Amino acid sequence: MPNFRLTQTINLNMDTHFFLIVFSLILSSLFLSSATNSALRGGSYLSVENPNDFLVSPRGDFSAGFYPVGDNAYCFALWFSKPSCNNNCTVVWMANRDFPVNGKRSELLLLESGNLILTDAGEATAWSTDTISRYPAELRLHDTGNLVLQNIEGDVIWQSFDSPTDTLLPSQPLTKYTELVASRSHTNFSSGFYKLIFDDKNLLRLLYEGPEVSSVYWPYPWYKDWEGGRSPYNSSRIASLDSLGKFTSSDHFSFLSSDWGVSLQRRLTLDSDGNARLYSREEGSARWAVSWQAKSQVCEIHGICGPNSTCSYNPLSGSKCSCLPGYKMKKTGDWSYGCEPRFNLSCSNHAEIGFIQLKHVEFYGHDGNFYSNVSLETCKKLCLESCNCQGFQYRHIGDTIVPYCYPKMLLSNGQYTPSFGGDFYIKVPKTSLFSGNEEASGLGLGICPSDHAKPLSLFRVYAGSPENGTLKFMLLFAYGVGGVEIIVILLAWCFLNKSQKDSNEATQNYHPAATGFKRFTYSELKKSTRNFSQEIGRGAGGIVYQGTLSDNRVAAIKLLNVANQGEAEFLAEISTIGKLNHMNLIEIWGYCAEGNHRLLVYQYMEHGSLAKNLSSNALDWQKRFEIALGTARGLAYLHEECLEWVLHCDVKPQNILLDSNYQPKVSDFGLSKLLSRGDLNHSSFSKIRGTRGYMAPEWVFNLPITSKVDVYSYGIVVLEIVTGKNAAIGSYGSQTSGEIEHERLVTLVRDKKNKANGVTSWIEEIIDPTLEGKYDQAKMEALISLALQCVEEDKDARPTMSRVVEMLLHLENDN
Ligand SMILES: *[C@@H]1O[C@H](CO)[C@@H](O)[C@H](O)[C@H]1NC(C)=O
Ligand SMILES: *[C@@H]1O[C@H](CO)[C@@H](O)[C@H](O)[C@H]1NC(C)=O
Ligand SMILES: *[C@@H]1O[C@H](CO)[C@@H](O)[C@H](O)[C@H]1NC(C)=O
Repeated sequence: MPNFRLTQTINLNMDTHFFLIVFSLILSSLFLSSATNSALRGGSYLSVENPNDFLVSPRGDFSAGFYPVGDNAYCFALWFSKPSCNNNCTVVWMANRDFPVNGKRSELLLLESGNLILTDAGEATAWSTDTISRYPAELRLHDTGNLVLQNIEGDVIWQSFDSPTDTLLPSQPLTKYTELVASRSHTNFSSGFYKLIFDDKNLLRLLYEGPEVSSVYWPYPWYKDWEGGRSPYNSSRIASLDSLGKFTSSDHFSFLSSDWGVSLQRRLTLDSDGNARLYSREEGSARWAVSWQAKSQVCEIHGICGPNSTCSYNPLSGSKCSCLPGYKMKKTGDWSYGCEPRFNLSCSNHAEIGFIQLKHVEFYGHDGNFYSNVSLETCKKLCLESCNCQGFQYRHIGDTIVPYCYPKMLLSNGQYTPSFGGDFYIKVPKTSLFSGNEEASGLGLGICPSDHAKPLSLFRVYAGSPENGTLKFMLLFAYGVGGVEIIVILLAWCFLNKSQKDSNEATQNYHPAATGFKRFTYSELKKSTRNFSQEIGRGAGGIVYQGTLSDNRVAAIKLLNVANQGEAEFLAEISTIGKLNHMNLIEIWGYCAEGNHRLLVYQYMEHGSLAKNLSSNALDWQKRFEIALGTARGLAYLHEECLEWVLHCDVKPQNILLDSNYQPKVSDFGLSKLLSRGDLNHSSFSKIRGTRGYMAPEWVFNLPITSKVDVYSYGIVVLEIVTGKNAAIGSYGSQTSGEIEHERLVTLVRDKKNKANGVTSWIEEIIDPTLEGKYDQAKMEALISLALQCVEEDKDARPTMSRVVEMLLHLENDN
């Protein structure tokens, strides 16, 4: 024990009696804290004032103790403790999220009776389990992250898994009795407005329960119970996540994480923005990666911008909230309260009331009534006559020529979507008719969960209570001496640890999140490709060879010609590619950076590229449809908000590879400049990228480059899939002749469609003759319309990739 060394250093001219007290205090505090680390027994407590008072799970993955949530405010919480984190931890559970306790004299106390209570400053009870046990009880933290109160017989009296806060851990079921409730914000851990629950129809849903209104936003609120693959008939209402990344629910909803199959630290968290996300990380890594999320469009989350506002998304700047014209933000810095009018509207005087038209704006829900086939004037009149009407939606549904009028009583869930065809008319006083597009400033929503969200908030501050003077002095002294000792130990520990950590960091930097991502030597790869003898393709920036790795996996090895790229820069880009993980993206196994050599090692695709398959007529209609869908999925993943944000910039049939089941995998992503949201910089795009034939007009006209450039190229690829014609050089195969540039391909299809006049034989005229009429007419037509939408000149008129996926899924499920 190091304590004995200290007895000599503090052997001053001091009353030995006093010294003995101090010494025993130090000893007992050390002894107690180490004893409490594995279990808390009946009659003992953890104190907020002792930083050593926490429980640790046997393997050390989780810890439970007092966690600071504000100035002098603590919650009893449970967090991931591997790697160790210092007040900047990923909290997975809280006992008293809505009642933080004082940093003085608060305790978590296990009574002999079996009740676990949390006291606030030794006075109020902030939280308790309200349990009784006949046998002695103890509190233990299990390796699963479950905090369990059990008796000596081993019976569970209470467990934290039964009362989750915002996070579900692997093997922790979500049941009919439990729910996840998001926290209020990144920095405020108290209960927020979003919930993940099983509703009374046995369906797992995301629900917004705001101060004024509540509504379901996932799955889509307009879905029928059985739509989206759900089944309302199983009333067991249970869902859970396993450690490999598979989530299953009794309503038939399930998903696999993008990094499924590997044992990682995982958690499903309902974030404060109302999105449920699955996070994963390798043990030892401090950074979480999103491997699934419920909503890809944050603006579709109800209540995200509060009432009287609109949410809009722009891939360059992310999502943002804006007040309606004439409205101002209600509470600075907190959009959940939305906006309030600057004006006072007297209802009776119609002459003083006007309307402002907001294009492409939609408000969900709260329709007073709806009227079909009424003119705009009639709709205005209807709204004027009702004092409750705040404005109205005016739109055509689908392709109908009859307009619909929806007066609204409440303006919530407002969304600006360029692809939305309808308009909204908002009621304002004429005297102050604001210029149509004057919008109150929108603050960035800070939508993506930041890695280091740190609570800064100030909760309650208690006045310190008077204490006994001598006792205080003795305690201070004890702390002082203890402090010296702790510092000595810490210094030694840090010193030992640092050298270890340094070497860890050196190696870890080069091993990105994806497991199995490996660094190869040049000679290894030279050998596996038999001296680069079997060329299988040429793509952007390099030649691809087939090779066989030492573990017998067949690989595609790309020799990059990036002569003067520094190793660090290369590794930085590679590490981003390595983190991208999706079933429709080619898997990258490793890389080599040695001297001037830069190589990438990918999984090998049996069936080669889409281009090759189109020219050899190997694809029937079903395969083509699935390729269109899979490719869209892969691209949507690349573009997804909150994930690593990457533009492909070179989508073409040569870069879409097919596996043994003809499932597509997008390749060559990330070789065009990888874009992280932070340093998106137009100038780095001054050089035109991509391949003639697939490039969006933005490149040519030097307009801002957004994810819509990939949507454009995708549209061209779909037209090729459908027509069998090659946009860049002419036709695939030999059955047709003639050079067709992509513009001509687009114009050809568009003209045929426009001239069709309800006659469907136009499809026959453009589709690939090798299909020989074996296809689904309705789906084919829808797919062509979708492709044409993707190749609109105006980038705002093109859908996002995730929208494309939705539409295709809808088509797929239609029969
Ligand atoms: C939204 O605006 C309406 C009037 O247009 C107002 O009555 C209502 O209080 C506003 N909502 C909030 C939350 O301020
Ligand atoms: C819509 O109203 C107009 C004029 O009131 C009428 O001529 C037309 O038939 C109506 N259309 C439908 C589909 O009801
Ligand atoms: C945190 O949120 C709760 C509930 O909305 C609120 O009462 C409290 O004031 C918030 N704390 C801070 C510091 O904003």
